[in-house]
Amino acid sequence: MKYTVKEVKRIFLDYFKNHEHKQIKNSSIIPENVDSLLFINAGMAPIKNVFTGQQIPESKRMCNMQICIRTNDIDSIGDRHHLSSFCMLGSWSVGDYFKEDAIRFATDLLTNHFNIPIEKLYATAFSGDEKRGIPADTDSEIYWKKVGFKDNQIVKCGFEDNFWRMGDGESPCGPCTEVFYDTGAEHGKSYEESGYFDDKKRYIEIWNAGVFMQYLQKEDGTYTNLPFNSVDTGSGLERLVMTLNGFDSVYETEVYKPILEFVAQNAKTPNTQSLRIIADHIKTSVLILNAGIEPSNAKRGYVLRRLLRRAIRHIRTIGAEPSLILEVAKRTIDNLIECDIAPDWNFSKEEIVAKIMQENDKFSKLLGNGLKEFNNFISREENIESGELKPELVFKLYDTFGFPFEMTRELAEENNIKVNEEEFNKLFEKHKEVSKGDIGKVFKCGLAETNEITTKLHTATHLLQAGLKKVLGDHVSQKGSNITDERLRFDFNFERKMTPEEIKAVEDFVNDVISKNVQVVKEEMSYEDAQKSGALGLFANKYGDVVSVYTIGEYSKEICGGPHAENTGDLGKFKIAKEESSSAGVRRIKGILN
Ligand code: GLY
Repeated sequence: MKYTVKEVKRIFLDYFKNHEHKQIKNSSIIPENVDSLLFINAGMAPIKNVFTGQQIPESKRMCNMQICIRTNDIDSIGDRHHLSSFCMLGSWSVGDYFKEDAIRFATDLLTNHFNIPIEKLYATAFSGDEKRGIPADTDSEIYWKKVGFKDNQIVKCGFEDNFWRMGDGESPCGPCTEVFYDTGAEHGKSYEESGYFDDKKRYIEIWNAGVFMQYLQKEDGTYTNLPFNSVDTGSGLERLVMTLNGFDSVYETEVYKPILEFVAQNAKTPNTQSLRIIADHIKTSVLILNAGIEPSNAKRGYVLRRLLRRAIRHIRTIGAEPSLILEVAKRTIDNLIECDIAPDWNFSKEEIVAKIMQENDKFSKLLGNGLKEFNNFISREENIESGELKPELVFKLYDTFGFPFEMTRELAEENNIKVNEEEFNKLFEKHKEVSKGDIGKVFKCGLAETNEITTKLHTATHLLQAGLKKVLGDHVSQKGSNITDERLRFDFNFERKMTPEEIKAVEDFVNDVISKNVQVVKEEMSYEDAQKSGALGLFANKYGDVVSVYTIGEYSKEICGGPHAENTGDLGKFKIAKEESSSAGVRRIKGILN
């Protein structure tokens, strides 16, 4: 092997450091101030505000290695170069140098430090977009020629390919110029000037050598000028290592190779596609779990669930034991450290593996029966209409057997059957309304969505209310509650800010009940009996209605529609992340479990 991952990372960062760039740290994969992004998808995302002038940069020239997650490519995983998580090597000029120097740095680094012959390189340049009023980037063409590129090594591309922004929300953005590496005639037709540029197989993108940040994309999709021009570059480390070594795919790099080999040794019928999916998805799952996200049916938790469940299915496909996933996860963590591309660890290896084990236990049980049901569905002609599996059956696989929609789509495609996403989504929304309605009928406890995390947070909310009464006085009671995948929010009547000691005492109370592994007991009784039993309840129902009462040992008793965790021991550790005023005489707590 010519280049290791460690070496390529070092050469890239050293090059920019030697040209006065300050190395900044790798940020968490969870964006802090960007609502429109689920995960950090580029090195610039954590520092996006420096390009608009809202934040002062650590330096006008910066560089780093940032762990990125890209969820839009999940279905392409398994080809030569798509990954759901990767390391982005990045360099930036914030209001400092612009196009000419960026292109000069890129060519110098690739040809003189990574020793790539210049004729193997191709660069793209933005051809302009009349509709949006954005002119062509003719400067970049001139500068590429100046550093030695020939006309037929410069490919002009439109908005979709050569205009970069972080996502659909507000984002600094601009035309970009990408560098591609020619992997050779055995991978497809060569590029002729103005002809077809095969950027899927033969020419592999190795570096977005410059997003020339000149514009701000607004929420409504319009553009304004930024106060100054900047350069944002990004190169996928794994892809760069793949091309520098002449590998056929990113899976031959040491980030993936030992994992693929280990999985193959433990499989009865290994196939390349499954091996790649398993290695990629488990690596990304480890990174997402380390960021404190748990599998669920919404947003980040759903991405994680999709990845884990797809990996679990492919482990089954290759005839390996379901528990193999645990050893793969352990080895993946060790290997990230070995390759010098690990994140800061928020959880221990054991904690991350335990979370994977929970999801594995839950899904492995459902998977066998779900696959039987799926095969049963597709074996009957009446279930397929115009080549599509009936949407209600796709929904049943989701609802009863926990098959993420995308998994059923993949299974169906393997059998040349289609599924209808729009119809599935309609059923999904309808189901959500119905379950919300059911909860609404009894007592609203702030759950918009029910899944494992919100259920645990819901039980923690009951304990929180009990803790607040104990520490602040019995007159304190609930004024509002709202629970999302990430936190609980609880409003209660109280006149002043809580002291740090009071906050700690409430946290200790909740964590003490958690550590006692108390069973959460549900009983049904008339509203009148519930009141007599001393259960707390916010909304008075009509006399005679049957209500559910949830009791947590001697600590809490509330009238509530559920659902709740079975045992407080399932909750993890409770923490009050924030205590603030909500309105006059009402305080608001945000609490988390980790
Ligand atoms: N921020 C540049 C890129 O991701 O390509």
